[in-house]
Amino acid sequence: MCGIFAYLNYLVPAKRKEILDILVNGLKRMEYRGYDSAGVGFEGTNTKNGGFELKTIKQKGKVAMLQEEIAHSTDLDFEKEYDIHIGIAHTRWATHGEPSPTNSHPQRSDTTNEFLVVHNGIITNYKDLKSFLISKGFEFESETDTEVIVKMVKHIYDKNPSISFRELVELTIQQLEGAFSLVFMSSKYPGECVSTRRGSPLVIGVKSKAKLSTDHIPILYSKDHRGLMNPSLHHTDSTTEFHPIGNKEVEYFFASDASAIIEHTNQVIFLEDDDVAAVQNGCLTIHRIKRTLDESTTREVTTIKMEIQQIMKGSYSSFMQKEIFEQPESVVNTMRGRVNFDTNRVVLGGIKDFMVEIRRCRRLLFIACGTSYHSAVATRQLMEELTELPVVVELASDFLDRQTPVFRDDVCFFISQSGETADTLMALRYCKQRGALIVGITNTVGSSICRESHCGVHINAGPEIGVASTKAYTSQFISLVMFALVMCEDRISMQERRNEIIRGLKNLPDQIKEVLKTDEHVHTLARELYQQKSLLVMGRGYNYATCLEGALKIKELTYMHSEGILAGELKHGPLALVDKAMPVMMVVTRDKVYPKCMNALQQVKARHGNPIVLGNTDDKETQQQANKFIGVPSTIDCLQGILTIIPMQLLSMHIAQLRGCDVDCPRNLAKSVTVE
Ligand code: AGP
Repeated sequence: MCGIFAYLNYLVPAKRKEILDILVNGLKRMEYRGYDSAGVGFEGTNTKNGGFELKTIKQKGKVAMLQEEIAHSTDLDFEKEYDIHIGIAHTRWATHGEPSPTNSHPQRSDTTNEFLVVHNGIITNYKDLKSFLISKGFEFESETDTEVIVKMVKHIYDKNPSISFRELVELTIQQLEGAFSLVFMSSKYPGECVSTRRGSPLVIGVKSKAKLSTDHIPILYSKDHRGLMNPSLHHTDSTTEFHPIGNKEVEYFFASDASAIIEHTNQVIFLEDDDVAAVQNGCLTIHRIKRTLDESTTREVTTIKMEIQQIMKGSYSSFMQKEIFEQPESVVNTMRGRVNFDTNRVVLGGIKDFMVEIRRCRRLLFIACGTSYHSAVATRQLMEELTELPVVVELASDFLDRQTPVFRDDVCFFISQSGETADTLMALRYCKQRGALIVGITNTVGSSICRESHCGVHINAGPEIGVASTKAYTSQFISLVMFALVMCEDRISMQERRNEIIRGLKNLPDQIKEVLKTDEHVHTLARELYQQKSLLVMGRGYNYATCLEGALKIKELTYMHSEGILAGELKHGPLALVDKAMPVMMVVTRDKVYPKCMNALQQVKARHGNPIVLGNTDDKETQQQANKFIGVPSTIDCLQGILTIIPMQLLSMHIAQLRGCDVDCPRNLAKSVTVE
């Protein structure tokens, strides 16, 4: 998805070169989100009249190409120093109009760049707004929906040249439908910056030598401006005492993702939908137009714990490789402080106050997309066993398409690494409206799903940068297992099973290390497979999710066709695909469905299939049946999927690299899918 980064320095002198480096670096930190063009907007001097004007540099392709374009801008004085300056930057993932410099952001209000904007999201009523603006004489140069925003700003400004920048943005967003996060700058308001969001994330970092005057910014409520064409503007109707942040020697960083800010400051403010955050004379204020009854009247200055090393590749060839190899530690972080291996107690702090309500529910719904959905599939069987409740697992997009019935006594879990996936978020709101209890299972502190849930569990896997989800999957898996364990803690009949699972959890980090040792062997198999067109992945029971997730990894990274097939369905169609040329993998571990899996293996072999078997290292019998074998340590049935997915992650990464694909940024994909 698109990425926004903006930097405002107030009484902190910086050379233009430093400012541009900060902007470009901010974009690089968000490259993993997926994009196809990039641009920056900054302050400059009109070469003809020496006056103040805004400049943009935009380029198709990677941020490195934008960086090159900037370096080759001969008309820029890189040594020029600014005490106060605002710069905005953007990586774009094309939705309206092909990737090109004209369609890239910042988009501008007019040829003199009076107003510039960077935008994430989609404006759904842009056609109507465009027709309106064309009727007012505006000429459009791009194919983007974004251009209507900045032209609307100019239109309103021309009618009300004395209003504040913040009020101007407030008036503008009242005209917008859809999803957005926006940062504006203007030659009419030098040194000022206004940002806002609705349905798309935006975080502000604050860096100041002086201690911040407050750790909660009060929201200031503006009176409704009553209509666009004849706005009757009011002064701020503040209901709370005014404590702005900043006002001397302060730097602000605006980003769609905290990972772009963390190297500058760990003090951040997550904006809520319809917040309008403005910096004027170095002071940051947050305004809202409407006030709803249950909303918070402050925004907290949060200290984020992310470390810069967590978002650096280090010696790994890719973020994906780093994240796969981090799993022995990330699973420990997921369990830390929650599973007590001495007493076999499991406590999930984020939901403990809601457990009475959860235990009373009529059914559990798990709703997610992609890999996060697979984590629910992986744990459904255990969830049913330990909770004895009906468990429904849903793909968020399909759930919304069906207008599924949801009741007040349902508990709905929304699983999302990013916490920003549009379909999952919409499904959350749908269930919330119907009175269900909402539990968020997320990896991103401060994300929309986190904030909009009644309670939740942070999976604590650490930042996941690679577009392909790896360590988040194993941590989601463990989080859901921990929840199932909490649900049955008082059930005497289940204690033995419970204790066995907890022992299994304890051994997981060492067992994951063992699995990672298969890397070289998996690489050899990847060399045999990488020129194939297709790969079928078969299994059943607890390993079915490994097949789905393994096949998803193969397709998204290698662009090969791949399908996760439930082995029980073989005879109902997929067996027709099998012949001696079709590459097949089968996941066969020693659990209750082992005999059925062996049966499926025989059926495949009888059709001259030559499957690679992913099984238990100590299972010599299965090994003998397999021509090629990848072994993982044995664990309790319900945790086996955590170990069997890792060779699939490695395999997809190696095949992708052998095929020359970018494993961190697969084509056409984005890390966080903030549009439906
Ligand atoms: C997985 O490798 C994917 N890139 C994708 O399926 C992802 O899991 C999905 O888009 C959901 O994302 P979320 O967990 O951030 O909600």
